[in-house]
Amino acid sequence: MNIVAFGASSSKASINKKFAAYAASRFEHASVEVLDFNDFIAPLFSVDEEKEEGIPQMVHGFFAKLQPADLIIISLAEHNGSYTAAFKNTFDWASRLKVKLFEGKKLLLLSTSTGQGGGKLVLESAVRRFPKHGAEIAGQFSLPVFFENFSEERGILDARLHKDFENILENVRKQLC
Ligand SMILES: Cc1cc2nc3c(=O)[nH]c(=O)nc-3n(C[C@H](O)[C@H](O)[C@H](O)COP(=O)(O)O)c2cc1C
Repeated sequence: MNIVAFGASSSKASINKKFAAYAASRFEHASVEVLDFNDFIAPLFSVDEEKEEGIPQMVHGFFAKLQPADLIIISLAEHNGSYTAAFKNTFDWASRLKVKLFEGKKLLLLSTSTGQGGGKLVLESAVRRFPKHGAEIAGQFSLPVFFENFSEERGILDARLHKDFENILENVRKQLC
């Protein structure tokens, strides 16, 4: 089974990249590729840019990276209640390449943030939107207050959040069988 995971953030120290990588590591016997979203930062989308320059190479690259995945794990960073500009921009470009860019793919959608909200708003937004782009949402989970609730060695520290997350993972594993 192939898993492609990334944090939808351009931060070099992205907590969402860490969380996506952790989630991917919890699938045994899977071949995992963790992407650095910084490799897919595209020029600002506009219909004029598209007409003049075409779809940028890194957008083709991003789309190509998703293709081998049986499961795509995206942990979404939330900026002012929504997607990061970097993710929204590459997503908009990729939707011009293929509207149903997630066609045939199961997605585990995550979010985490430094605050209590845990990026719930952007997560809800993606859960509503991504099926229009062909995604089958296999699971969703939001982790609040990352630096209190997560350790790279021990995973999710809070007992209730840990249990909820384990249940989600188990449910996703069943859907992949
Ligand atoms: C411009 C900006 C807006 C932010 N807006 C939100 C927000 O709406 N909700 C939230 O929970 N955190 C917000 N944060 C805090 C982020 O959760 C925090 O920066 C987190 O580290 C982002 O994830 P990342 O490290 O994966 O980029 C914001 C941060 C910035 C820089």
